[in-house]
Amino acid sequence: MTTLPTPRYHRRTLTRTRLAAMASLVALLAVADAASGYTPPPLLHTDVNPQSALTCRSCHVDITTQWSASAHAGADQRKNLLFGQMYFTSLRATRGATMVKCAPCHETIPFVSNDFEKLRDVSAEGVTCVYCHTVSGPGPEDAIPPFTLDLRYYHGTIRLPVQVKDHGSAYSDFITKSDYCGGCHRYSNQNGVPISDTFGEWKRSKYAKQGITCQKCHMPGGPGRNSSMGPARPRVADHSFAGPDRNRELQGAATLTLRSGARSPDTLRVVAQVSNVGAGHSIPTGNDQHVVLIRIRVTDVDGRIVWENDPFQDWDHSVFGLLLANELGAYPADTWTAVKILSDTRVAAGASSQTRFIVPVGDAKGPFRVAAQLLHRRARPETIAAYGLPEDPYGIERLMAEAAIEIP
Ligand code: HEC
Ligand code: HEC
Ligand code: HEC
Ligand code: HEC
Ligand code: HEC
Repeated sequence: MTTLPTPRYHRRTLTRTRLAAMASLVALLAVADAASGYTPPPLLHTDVNPQSALTCRSCHVDITTQWSASAHAGADQRKNLLFGQMYFTSLRATRGATMVKCAPCHETIPFVSNDFEKLRDVSAEGVTCVYCHTVSGPGPEDAIPPFTLDLRYYHGTIRLPVQVKDHGSAYSDFITKSDYCGGCHRYSNQNGVPISDTFGEWKRSKYAKQGITCQKCHMPGGPGRNSSMGPARPRVADHSFAGPDRNRELQGAATLTLRSGARSPDTLRVVAQVSNVGAGHSIPTGNDQHVVLIRIRVTDVDGRIVWENDPFQDWDHSVFGLLLANELGAYPADTWTAVKILSDTRVAAGASSQTRFIVPVGDAKGPFRVAAQLLHRRARPETIAAYGLPEDPYGIERLMAEAAIEIP
């Protein structure tokens, strides 16, 4: 890994009064100001009213319950405060230009039906059923997201679905592919900086060659009924998009091993190796807020702590993630001001990364015990502080792997 100084976090001051009211004002101004920069996905039959997930529940009970608790259902700015605060800040900083650069992937329906006031329930449902299921194929590369939508049918993988009067159904090959998820799970900013590229990471991995799609790992399914009004089917896809805690397909994706290197009288050297053995893309993936870090602690013969690292003060050795810089070279930069990637220490699918810690032990007495944990975080500490976000869930550190060794 290249050596970089510790990031200098710049603090933002935010007025958090009447956020919502101002956001909608900014949003309205932005429509006029920035709509010219937006290429919407081509729409077939705009005269159809998009239906809310509330209407699907009566027939697709399980799927709707699963989706309701998912990150997709919670993507709207009022439900996901991390997104909401960043979106709002970016709107102010860019005079509304990011409205069309951020929101179409996170708040899908307002852009399809021009309901920016969110007067309909469906407009506040984030990444909702109707949007995902009216995608009929890829669209122009500059559309955000790059899809073509056909509102007449809900597309799925059933070739001969039982027809109902409530909606049209149609088979789609596209919905079975990773390219479908990749329409949203790949994003570059206006400067061409790839902010997130889960699709590209997957495409370059052995999983793409083996035909193991996003759906295979993230939408595990088994026999059942898609609808109370339909027959038993061999595969009903889970719509919870849960993390490893609730999706067994995702467990054990990373391993952590420790070994001791050459030592001197007052220092230990510890080498930690992180391997991505199970994720279909890098660890972590997604945008620069998502990080994986090592917390490592050395204790002496009596169990006293001799040394421990402070991950965010030692980005080079302790943090795996993406570090963005703006045109002045300041970092970490906001995604909408980034002009380059300063460092990318994410661990690619199937790859390993080694990192070395030099531990001062002074005159403490061995044998020493070195214990380390590999943890996943959704947002970096300075982001949580700047936006006043709750620690739960944004600062929770989820255990991915752990290891310990004794050094005599
Ligand atoms: C219309 C855009 C869109 C499409 C299509 C889409 N996603 Fe997402 N996805 C999002 C957004 C936006 C989020 C972030 C929601 C949030 O955290 O607020 C997300 C979140 C997720 C998460 C949760 C990540 C986390 O941190 O817990 C997973 C997993 C996921 N998507 C997988 C998929 C898969 C697999 C597909 C294809 C079947 C897919 N997505 C299709 C937009 C989309
Ligand atoms: C992020 C996009 C996304 C969202 C949101 C979403 N779905 Fe799906 N849905 C899919 C994908 C992809 C499949 C096919 C998965 C597979 O079989 O591999 C699917 C499958 C289905 C199926 C079964 C048909 C089939 O293809 O096997 C039904 C029914 C369905 N979804 C209904 C819903 C309902 C109702 C909601 C909202 C409560 C919803 N979906 C939300 C992407 C989505
Ligand atoms: C009146 C009941 C009813 C309602 C309401 C309903 N569906 Fe369906 N839907 C069905 C039935 C029945 C099937 C066929 C299932 C089968 O053949 O296994 C189906 C099939 C589907 C399919 C699969 C299409 C295919 O060819 O793979 C999708 C996607 C879907 N529905 C989405 C939705 C969404 C999204 C909503 C809400 C906006 C919704 N449905 C509301 C009854 C309903
Ligand atoms: C081989 C299985 C596999 C495939 C294929 C796969 N993933 Fe994942 N994905 C995982 C695992 C495992 C994790 C959780 C890793 C961890 O513990 O943090 C994950 C996590 C994620 C997350 C949350 C990441 C974060 O850091 O919060 C998103 C979003 C996601 N995947 C999207 C996708 C998309 C989109 C695709 C297809 C382009 C895809 N995945 C393909 C296994 C897979
Ligand atoms: C092409 C679609 C797309 C665009 C455009 C987009 N995003 Fe996202 N965003 C996603 C997806 C998909 C995820 C979930 C996976 C991940 O973390 O990358 C996500 C995740 C996020 C998250 C993390 C949410 C969480 O709780 O973990 C934030 C914050 C975010 N986006 C902010 C923004 C901002 C601000 C913009 C505009 C400057 C933007 N996004 C533009 C698709 C997009």
